[in-house]
Amino acid sequence: MTRHLILGQTLAFAADPFSAPLEVAAQHHRRGAVLIDAGRIAAVGQADDLKAEFPDVATTDYGDGLISAGFVDAHMHYPQTAIIASWGKRLIDWLNLYTFPEEMRFADPAYATEIAGRCLDLNLAHGTTTVASYCTIHPGSVDAIFEAAAARDMRIVAGKTCMDRDTAPDRLRDTAQGAYDDSRALIERWHDKGRASYAITPRFSPTSTVAQLEALGALWAEHPSCLMQTHLSEQTDEIEWVRGLYPEARDYLDTYEAYGLLGERGVYGHAIHLEEREKARLSEVGAGLVHCPTSNTFIGSGLFDMAGLKGAGQRVGLATDTGGGSSFSMLRTMAAAYEVGQLHGTALHPAQLWWLATEGSAQVLHMQGRIGALRAGAEADLVILDLGSTPAIAQRAAQANDIWDAIFPTIMMGDDRAVQAVWLNGAPCQSAGSARIST
Ligand code: GUN
Ligand code: ZN
Repeated sequence: MTRHLILGQTLAFAADPFSAPLEVAAQHHRRGAVLIDAGRIAAVGQADDLKAEFPDVATTDYGDGLISAGFVDAHMHYPQTAIIASWGKRLIDWLNLYTFPEEMRFADPAYATEIAGRCLDLNLAHGTTTVASYCTIHPGSVDAIFEAAAARDMRIVAGKTCMDRDTAPDRLRDTAQGAYDDSRALIERWHDKGRASYAITPRFSPTSTVAQLEALGALWAEHPSCLMQTHLSEQTDEIEWVRGLYPEARDYLDTYEAYGLLGERGVYGHAIHLEEREKARLSEVGAGLVHCPTSNTFIGSGLFDMAGLKGAGQRVGLATDTGGGSSFSMLRTMAAAYEVGQLHGTALHPAQLWWLATEGSAQVLHMQGRIGALRAGAEADLVILDLGSTPAIAQRAAQANDIWDAIFPTIMMGDDRAVQAVWLNGAPCQSAGSARIST
């Protein structure tokens, strides 16, 4: 018997709350239920209805816990787990001082295995059920994260970070051909195997030669079902650097576009300081942008224009960008997105923040309907949240007038203590939350 009924408050989205009215976009049941069958969500509805329809199915009751699709972190760097919260630098110095020395340690597969497991367990403890992660230049670092995800039955996107320019340190450089060969072999080993997907991953144009960008563009054309992830227009100093390295390019995006690295399945992290031409091209091809607000404030990058970009119809997801980001928590990331929105003059609604952390990120990864959705047919990757997880949150939530008022204190002040349980692929995850299974 693989069926299971879980009870609690349920929060689901039928449409994008940036474009549909709230009543249409979001569906909340105060006493709801989710029927899981063979790893998938079979039904979402009122608890009384589903209990009556399936009286003999094993049931777990989370009481007032909020059942949501698990969070989807659309851009992070698992190899930076151990250097999160490193003080005092902006992007280029932060990369050189903290990131690159740490990434060199991933030449050792045992270290990669240790950090991959640690990172995914931290993600699960925070209610994140899928990440799209960069690895290091070492193919072993890619095997490590895919193996760790398979061991936990997590859906995952990852790829070998490619760097062949002398702007990167000697010990972190591959070659154009080596990056192509290694990435191709890793695609064959991992792409679409179980719950794994491969993303072709040039780190960013300042650390690749034209030959490498061309090779990876060719590889993407040969494997169009892969995602391609990279960084775009994160800091003004970085954009100046790109201008110097690629004098012939019209703008930063053109350094990807010219070599076959702009497409619908492209996932562009940060995208803060965009030119009008870049916005037009990104929207024309339907590429994905990923907002990383804790990183953007921590490294001092700038303010992502969520209202402007979503208003213009761009596809946008949300991410931690760990360890440039300062938290593993998508709750903390939603809070930072709210704060960045305020500095831009727009108060993002809790429904919009929640949608970005689930469905929005799933859309950017072209996994909509599969993950990030509390909807029949989706894979049963769930998080159950306690909306009163600390005294400060509980006393505020006690004053709530509606579900959004009840959720917002957890968005703004919540962390891993709010995570009551996590389900992965239809099974309770023992390493996250305090899952209480009753049959
Ligand atoms: N740009 C290129 N590499 C990185 C990275 O590792 N983190 C961030 N935040 N930006 C980058
Ligand atoms: Zn990044």
